[in-house]
Amino acid sequence: MAKFLNAFAALAVLLPFTQAQSSFIDDCTTFNSSLYTKANWAAGLGSVSSNNVNPSGGGVLNFEIPAGTRNGGEIVSKAQYSYGQLEAQFKVPNLPGVISSIFLYQGTSTSDEIDVEVYLNQGKWEIAFTIYRLGIKEWSHGYFPTWDPSAGYNNYMIDYQEAAISFYVNGVLEAQFHTPPQQPIHAMNIQLNTWFPAWLNGAAASSTQFMQVNQISYTQS
Ligand SMILES: *[C@@H]1O[C@H](CO)[C@@H](O)[C@H](O)[C@H]1NC(C)=O
Repeated sequence: MAKFLNAFAALAVLLPFTQAQSSFIDDCTTFNSSLYTKANWAAGLGSVSSNNVNPSGGGVLNFEIPAGTRNGGEIVSKAQYSYGQLEAQFKVPNLPGVISSIFLYQGTSTSDEIDVEVYLNQGKWEIAFTIYRLGIKEWSHGYFPTWDPSAGYNNYMIDYQEAAISFYVNGVLEAQFHTPPQQPIHAMNIQLNTWFPAWLNGAAASSTQFMQVNQISYTQS
């Protein structure tokens, strides 16, 4: 009996950790409120509002940039995730000045962070891969696609491992950072957003635009 109780106690201790790390596939049919919350904040040239994040009902999660604004939307996972593969399939708005991104972020000014940011800057599409450890930018790499990220859905993946962090676009390895002493070490929240940073100096949207996401998944390593 004592042996059984011990095993049970061990399991109870392990369980919250296991849950926080567990793999998921979100097909974006609904907004899954057990996985994420919608953020509200002001930064850069506008704000992100929970009102702007809504499922289409047809398998797409829309992050709206309402006409006449520099506002967008953001989702933040409730759990934090460590080593594994985070990927999402999304289409970005065809609008200069907006960053559409998928990232892992610990949530403080001295945080670990791994970013994939897609934006149109001075007529050129760029996808920036950036890594912070304890609030310090350790590495950044810009990839310039010859295709248009606003023309359709593309798959963006962060493969976060202890030995290296690899960035894939549509299944192709585009950049890799393998310097373990400079890599994040903490579990982080999964976030996706579309917003107007000050440095891109974008104009307000002349018509309503969307970042559209049709799948988000995390596979624990
Ligand atoms: C939300 O995600 C969790 C974890 O994958 C899943 O078990 C649950 O069924 C999802 N809920 C909805 C409404 O899709």
